[in-house]
Amino acid sequence: MIWEYDEALNLGRVKLVSDDGECVHVEFLNGNTAVFLSRDSADFSPGDVVLIAENTLESASEEKWPREKAWIGVVKLLISNEVVVEIGSGLHIMPVPEDLALRVGNTVEGTGQDNIVRVISDRPIRYIDQPDVDASTIASFKENRNAEHSFEDFAGSVNIVIRAKELIETPLKFHEELKQIGARPIKGVLFTGEPGTGKTLLARIIASRADATFYQISGPQIMNKWLGQSEELIRKIFEDAARQEKAIVFFDEIDSLATQRSDESHEASRRIVGQLLAAMDGFNRDDNVIVIATTNRPQDIDIALRRPGRFDWEIHFPLPNVGDREAILIRTQPPGVVGGLSHAVVAEQTEGWSPAELSAIWSEAALLAVADTRNNIHNEDYIGGFEQVAKQRVRKLMERKMQERGES
Ligand SMILES: Nc1ncnc2c1ncn2[C@@H]1O[C@H](COP(=O)(O)OP(=O)(O)O)[C@@H](O)[C@H]1O
Ligand SMILES: [Mg+2]
Repeated sequence: MIWEYDEALNLGRVKLVSDDGECVHVEFLNGNTAVFLSRDSADFSPGDVVLIAENTLESASEEKWPREKAWIGVVKLLISNEVVVEIGSGLHIMPVPEDLALRVGNTVEGTGQDNIVRVISDRPIRYIDQPDVDASTIASFKENRNAEHSFEDFAGSVNIVIRAKELIETPLKFHEELKQIGARPIKGVLFTGEPGTGKTLLARIIASRADATFYQISGPQIMNKWLGQSEELIRKIFEDAARQEKAIVFFDEIDSLATQRSDESHEASRRIVGQLLAAMDGFNRDDNVIVIATTNRPQDIDIALRRPGRFDWEIHFPLPNVGDREAILIRTQPPGVVGGLSHAVVAEQTEGWSPAELSAIWSEAALLAVADTRNNIHNEDYIGGFEQVAKQRVRKLMERKMQERGES
């Protein structure tokens, strides 16, 4: 049998050389140790990197030894001879090195599990390319009100629009009156429904029509860009909102926080959700703020969000029925269509389609029209577009089915 020869496995470091120079103790990379008899041990001294080839020791260069992965963290807490260091967004406890004076807030470099090597800075490190959370940062989360959208853009279910106005516009407008009545204020409204059912669209419409300051935060954006300062950011946005006469804080795709799988981001998302809850619990009766959050996966979001005084209210965005589908097709059609179009037929054929899928028909139809060197959409393009999206849908559905089967 031939053993595969892996140099890395045969690399060691001399720990000890016996007084008579006969025995050399070597520690291997994997932590195992072995003693070698050496006729000429004078060549070796503790710390040397050696290579074991056919049971004899050879000198090897220091470069061969793999560099230990360094980490950078911030000192959070000192307890006599131990220290809590935040690395990434996890906390680790480790011994205080004898030769270092650590203070809370120091940024330190370390190697291995718990070996702090040096202090890099007196101050906590900031994640790069993350500016301070200042007034201009908060301003960048405020949606500029424009007349870009109107409630008419939301086609299909009128009930959703009516309910949204009831739960969001009315309480903001009649804040004082509702306070006098003593009604429990509406703080949070959750928009639920499958992807592409218009949750973000309706929030955008509300943003451009509502007579309130509107802050938009998206879950993925927080996870990518603001991880290090997310708590500070959320706290400041809510403080700013509370100072306004009326405000809406919109948290898009909140499930992206609750469904993070890896440990580190899971810890971070837990803290972000915690900060959001603290902010909502911290409203006082004079604050006129309503939080809207959207999710494609209501079953995945933290149940703490659903407790009384938080997201008590829910608007569900169902898949459209045939009448709604026709209304959506008509509402989303671009200006460049000519002739009579078979809206009713397409609406019949699109059971189970989301509004986003329906509106995608128009993009495909436009491509077919320009491919045919026309600058308007005919019925044949419309039908062709429908067929294109139908094909893509089937492919996606099959992929999802296979994934689900693979998971279970
Ligand atoms: N009720 C609707 N009426 C018209 N178009 C819609 C409607 N709902 C969704 N759409 C179209 O689908 C796109 C995606 O919808 P979006 O609001 O992003 O879905 P969600 O946030 O629920 O995943 C919108 O930009 C819009 O073009
Ligand atoms: Mg959305």
